[in-house]
Amino acid sequence: MLIHKIKDYNFPQARFARFVLNQEICTGCGRCVTSCPIQLLEIKDKKARPNERYDYFRCITCQNCVAVCPSGAVKIEGDYRVDQGFWKNAHLFEGTKTLPNPLGLAQNTPFEEYADKLTETERVILRRRSVRMYKKKKVPRELIARVIEAGRFAPSAGNNQPWKFVVIDDADSIALINERCKKALKIVTWLTLPHPWGKKKTPGDKSASLKAWQQALLPLLVTLKTGEVEPRARGGINAAASDPDYDIFFGAPCLILLLADKRGIGDIDLDLGICGQNMVLAAHSLGLGTCYVSLAKAISFYKDLKKSLDIEEPFRIITSLTLGWPKGRIDNPVARERPRISWIDKL
Ligand SMILES: Cc1cc2nc3c(=O)[nH]c(=O)nc-3n(C[C@H](O)[C@H](O)[C@H](O)COP(=O)(O)O)c2cc1C
Ligand code: SF4
Ligand code: SF4
Repeated sequence: MLIHKIKDYNFPQARFARFVLNQEICTGCGRCVTSCPIQLLEIKDKKARPNERYDYFRCITCQNCVAVCPSGAVKIEGDYRVDQGFWKNAHLFEGTKTLPNPLGLAQNTPFEEYADKLTETERVILRRRSVRMYKKKKVPRELIARVIEAGRFAPSAGNNQPWKFVVIDDADSIALINERCKKALKIVTWLTLPHPWGKKKTPGDKSASLKAWQQALLPLLVTLKTGEVEPRARGGINAAASDPDYDIFFGAPCLILLLADKRGIGDIDLDLGICGQNMVLAAHSLGLGTCYVSLAKAISFYKDLKKSLDIEEPFRIITSLTLGWPKGRIDNPVARERPRISWIDKL
């Protein structure tokens, strides 16, 4: 069905995952607060708790809060499920998320019990988490080059290698890019969310709705920029744009922009994704942490910034990677949706 009612494009009646905090064992260390990309938690009276934002935006079930919690005080229950409308997804999933189980053992066998039976590559893949907590310590340029070297040897359509890397390892420059990106992201929030929400650290009036012009614009935006205006993406963009303290690069000492030559063969986004993941896995195997930050695409709003960052035709920014030394242990396995697999025996 191509034609949807406007309300179907807006925030769906979704069943969201929710986090459950065990206050008895929570030490109030705040690691879950720093790591949540949607800024859904806060510390009050030395304990973690849901903050006001949680009433408006919900969990993307990344499970980073679970991965970083040193005392097992947080767990995620349920999943993001939408029953009807354009964003309907409930029919695509079966059951709830499960932990990694590459050897087909009894469900919920702890990872550490079978980790030594896996290859080093599997261990890195299954343990890797997006890192949103970094030490201030710089990453030596030789190590950055080593990570890029892993990207260079990624496969690409027709071996066209459409990538270009822009490395920024000066803290003030990364801070400047953060500020400018956040300014641009405010425009996305202004276009796609009820207006009182974009103005405050926590969203405004809960009864506020989209203006008539926004409702008219939304179907077009959904058609042209589906991923950018997906309801959870709008929550993430709002988290970044509306909180003055939010750093979209999490204080990482190094930022690598991944650019692609627009004239590349086939699908350049796919090539850059593969290249990026080679880099991410190499970095984690070296004890470094990474996080993809596609919010950095907001750099494209600024001609002068693009010029200073050497982003010139025919290149466009596909995504970015933060790189640095993780603060504490973050790489840990978490639960994921069950895979959708069609096993075809014979046609
Ligand atoms: C293409 C891409 C873009 C992403 N952009 C952002 C971003 O802008 N900000 C952010 O905090 N995380 C971003 N992420 C990280 C995802 O939120 C994260 O991978 C996901 O929640 C799963 O968590 P994990 O990486 O810890 O397994 C991005 C991930 C990918 C693959
Ligand atoms: S699962 Fe991710 S989005 Fe949800 S509360 Fe935890 S860190 Fe935040
Ligand atoms: S990471 Fe765990 S222990 Fe630390 S504040 Fe969050 S829930 Fe509490």
